Amino acid sequence: MNVSVIGLGKVGLSLASCLATSGHRVIGVEIDVARVDALNRDRFDTSEPGVAERLSTAPAGAFTATSDLAAAICGSDLSFVIVPTPSNTLGGFSLRFLLPVCDAIGAALRKGDRAHTIAVVSTMLPGSSDAVVIPRLEAASGRTIGRGLGYCYNPSFIALGEVVKGIVKPDYVLIGEADRASGDLVQRVHESMVTTTLPVARMTPVEAEITKIASNTHETMRVSFANMLLSICSEIPGADVDRITEALAYRMGRRFFRGALPYGGPCWPRDNVAFTAFIDAIRSPSTLPRAVDTFNAEHGRYVLRKILSVSAPGQTVGLLGLAYKPGTPVTERAFALDLAAALPKDGRKVIAWDPVAISEFRKQCGDGVAYADSAEACLRASQVAVATIPLADFASIDWTAAANTTLVDGWRCLPRAAIDACREYVALGRGPSGSVAPWLRDTVGAYFDLLTS
Ligand SMILES: NC(=O)c1ccc[n+]([C@@H]2O[C@H](COP(=O)([O-])OP(=O)(O)OC[C@H]3O[C@@H](n4cnc5c(N)ncnc54)[C@H](O)[C@@H]3O)[C@@H](O)[C@H]2O)c1
Repeated sequence: MNVSVIGLGKVGLSLASCLATSGHRVIGVEIDVARVDALNRDRFDTSEPGVAERLSTAPAGAFTATSDLAAAICGSDLSFVIVPTPSNTLGGFSLRFLLPVCDAIGAALRKGDRAHTIAVVSTMLPGSSDAVVIPRLEAASGRTIGRGLGYCYNPSFIALGEVVKGIVKPDYVLIGEADRASGDLVQRVHESMVTTTLPVARMTPVEAEITKIASNTHETMRVSFANMLLSICSEIPGADVDRITEALAYRMGRRFFRGALPYGGPCWPRDNVAFTAFIDAIRSPSTLPRAVDTFNAEHGRYVLRKILSVSAPGQTVGLLGLAYKPGTPVTERAFALDLAAALPKDGRKVIAWDPVAISEFRKQCGDGVAYADSAEACLRASQVAVATIPLADFASIDWTAAANTTLVDGWRCLPRAAIDACREYVALGRGPSGSVAPWLRDTVGAYFDLLTS
C-alpha cells in the first residue's frame, strides 16, 4: 500500500521503518526540513533500536521523506498522523499541531477524488475525534466519513527504547473506527507488520480514546501499588517486597508490578493528569488518577528521605542512570532530575552518570551537578550512589570502584559483584535485619495494642 506517516519523530519514524520493511511504500512527512534532508541522505538520527537498520535495508524507494504534505496525501491511501499533542496549562492535550495537519490533509483531498483514510496515532483526550478532529477533516476536505474519507483513532502502546518492538510485537492493536472499512484497512496494515497473531480491539473512536489514556492510569496504578509495598517493606525488619509482589502476581500477573522508584517519562505522568482533567470536566469522580499522580510524588519524597538518611551534608551522591528508563536518552520527568534538584537543597553534592543520557540531562539540569565520564568515576567520587533505573550496563561495571561507597539500589538490580565490593548495600524494599516485635514497640508503641485490641 501507499502510506503516509505524518510526523517523523520518535514514534513516527519507527512506524515508518516498520511499514517500509513490510511491503509498503511509505512517504514520511516532516515539518523539520533539515530532518527531511538528513533522512533522504540516509542519515537516520534516532536512538530507537532497529529503526536505522530497517530504513537502510528497506527496498529501494520504500521510504522517502518530504515536507510536502499535499503530495504525500495525493500519493497515498492511508495516513498515520503522529505529531505532538503537548499537555496544556489545564492538563489536557493540545491539538494545536494536529489541527493544522487536518486542514492541510483536507485541502489536499479537495484536489482529487482518491479515497483516503486518516489514522491518528497521537495521544488525544476522549472525545477529540468526534468533537474536533473529524469535523475539522470533513470541513477541510468537503467529504464526509464513509464517502471518500475514512477515519480511525489508532494509538500505539510503545515504550521509548523499544518502539519497533512495540509495533511488530504489540500486546494488541487498538482501533477506534469511525467507519468499518477504515478499521479493516488499518487492521490489515498492522497485520502486515506483526510477527505474531494479533489481538485487535476494535471500537468507536471515543472508546479507543478512553482505552488509551486509561491504559496508562491502569499501569501506573499497579506500578504505584508495588511502590507503596516497597516503602512498607523497606521499614519492616525482614520484609522483602519481591516476595510479596511475586505472591500477589499469582492472582493478578507480574506486569508493571515491581516495587521500585517513582515513574516518569513523557507519557505516564501527563496521561494521569490529563485523565483527571477530563474526568473532572465531565463531572465524574476523578480521585483514582489524581491519587496515583499524588502518590508518585509522595513516593519520590520517601525515596529522597532514604537517600538523605544514609548520607550527610557535604557528601557527594552519585546518580547511576539519568534517563526515565533504561535504553533511551530521554530524561523527561526522570526521577534522577528530581534527585538532582532536591539533594543540593539538603547540602549534598551530586555527580551524575548514564550510558546515553548525559547530554539530555545536562540540557535540563545544567551545570549545578557534576558529570562523570564513567560509572566507575561516578562511584569513586561518591560517598553514596543510587541506582535510579535498572541499567543493563550494571553487569559490566568494575564495582571495586565502590569500595568506599554506600550503594542504594532502588530496583534490587545490582549484581553480586556490586554488593560484595561496596562499603554498604541498601536495597530499597528490603527491611533491616532484626525482629518485628521490638521494632513495632519502638515505632508504634502502645498504639499497636489499641490497633489490635
Ligand atoms: N514518545 C512516546 O513514548 C509516545 C508513546 C505513545 C504515544 N505517543 C504520542 O505520539 C505523539 C508523537 O510523539 P513523539 O514522541 O513521536 O513526538 P516527537 O516530538 O518525537 O515527534 C513529533 C514529530 O512531528 C513533527 N511535526 C510537528 N508538526 C508537524 C507537521 N505539521 N507536519 C509534519 N510533522 C510535524 C515534529 O517535527 C516531530 O519530528 C504524541 O501525541 C505522543 O503523546 C508518544
